[in-house]
Amino acid sequence: MNQKISKTPDLSLGPVPTMIMTLGTGEEENMIAVAWTGIVNNDPPMIYVSVNPSRFSYPVLKKTGEFVLNAVSPALLQDVDFTGSVSGRDIDKWEATGLTKEPAKKLACCGIWESPVQYECKVTEVIKLPSHVMFLAEIVNVNIDPGLIDGRGDFHPEHAGLVAYMNGRYVETATEPVCDTGYTLNGQLPYESKIEAVQIYEMGLPEQICRKLYEARLYNIGDLRNVTKEYLLSLPGFGKKTVDAIIEAMAEYGTAPAEDMSVPAP
Ligand SMILES: Cc1cc2nc3c(=O)[nH]c(=O)nc-3n(C[C@H](O)[C@H](O)[C@H](O)COP(=O)(O)O)c2cc1C
Repeated sequence: MNQKISKTPDLSLGPVPTMIMTLGTGEEENMIAVAWTGIVNNDPPMIYVSVNPSRFSYPVLKKTGEFVLNAVSPALLQDVDFTGSVSGRDIDKWEATGLTKEPAKKLACCGIWESPVQYECKVTEVIKLPSHVMFLAEIVNVNIDPGLIDGRGDFHPEHAGLVAYMNGRYVETATEPVCDTGYTLNGQLPYESKIEAVQIYEMGLPEQICRKLYEARLYNIGDLRNVTKEYLLSLPGFGKKTVDAIIEAMAEYGTAPAEDMSVPAP
């Protein structure tokens, strides 16, 4: 690893969620992009949001003590950017974005109908920091697009491909998880595609076997999973001992050659 470069402390920690916060009613209704937000407690579920007092939204938030955090799907990217670049002082952002108001279930303000997940929050504490004011809030209700809930009732926010913020840029989040937390203790391996990509030379096989596999145009576990044991045995120079060694090495990764004889050879 290279020598690290020391830098003046910056704000590059991330990726962090980027949300469109909606708040206020009547004349004061507004929306503002926020990235300085995150979960801080689980029971009750609590969140924070840090808002600069110069924002039009700040006095509204202080007065009403409630807001909705609307998660940003890729379709809402230009809306989050816009709502974070202009002020409600100068423009009606609801009208300008054309987004649809969806009345919150437990608050007086509205959420954004187009957002796949909305967190309805009630402020519990206000903490003044040097540049920003941190609003601690309880999440009193969450509205979720039914497409993000599986047949067992489990919520999969990752399927929304939510946009995140990092160091002045928007970044994509994966729509498939890498693996579950605790996987190291459960004996699981990280995600399938990683296993597929393991190169034959990384599998601890003798060099001679690696060479034979290369000659047969089999380069990684993904390739080995696509062929059957019978196919391996049919390759020139592949005896039972060689094939058993390959199967044993694959088993270390929790996988095996294909069972179906109809799987085509590469
Ligand atoms: C991606 C993004 C994230 C932002 N995060 C925050 C934030 O967490 N807190 C904040 O005070 N301002 C944040 N801003 C800036 C405000 O959204 C911006 O100043 C906005 O125009 C204020 O709107 P308002 O005056 O209508 O309240 C962010 C802007 C962008 C583009």
